[in-house]
Amino acid sequence: MAQPSLSMHDAAARRFRLKGLAGVLVASALAAAPVLMLRAAPHLPDLSLLAAAPVKIQIHVAAALTALVIGTVLMVGVKGTRLHRALGWSWVAAMATTAVSSLFIREMNHGAMSWIHLLSGWTIVALPMAVYAARRHNVHMHRRFMTGLFVGGLIVAGGFTFLPGRLLWRVFFG
Ligand code: HEM
Repeated sequence: MAQPSLSMHDAAARRFRLKGLAGVLVASALAAAPVLMLRAAPHLPDLSLLAAAPVKIQIHVAAALTALVIGTVLMVGVKGTRLHRALGWSWVAAMATTAVSSLFIREMNHGAMSWIHLLSGWTIVALPMAVYAARRHNVHMHRRFMTGLFVGGLIVAGGFTFLPGRLLWRVFFG
């Protein structure tokens, strides 16, 4: 009988954390919006900028967007099914491609790596750990790693790519 109350407590704690994260993201977006609006001139996406970008950046963006779509389905969908496993492996492949391709993108820091590459390193380490946890049926650890990679890595790193001066800023607002 202890099991149902434990999982209910788990679910409530998870909802609370997700609401907290959503709150932080919305508050950050609202705080940044006035500053960004001053410099932004939104227009239809100028995809010629992406087409002219180096292949490594095109691969990086394609993999990141794939991971974003699959990751969203995984986050809101039912866990533990065959579909979850199939999509999960696809997500791992897309995230690994995103992280590895980013190691070759060094234009923004004059040929050197920048602090965002720490996230790439962490993704390359944490992905196998999250898969290992799933294979060991350590659901708690698996969920913590995957949610952290999705929200902390993909959403936050993706958000930063819209800062003034960066490629996606120019595609949409520049
Ligand atoms: C939706 C998610 C993402 C999008 C749309 C995206 C897009 C981009 C783009 C367009 C660039 C080229 C540089 C520029 O912006 O001018 C870039 C660079 C980079 N990205 Fe991503 N990215 C995403 C997620 C990630 C993730 C998850 C990681 C790490 C695991 C990552 C790591 C990097 C790194 C290290 C660079 C080089 C930045 C620098 O040298 O300062 N990105 N990204």
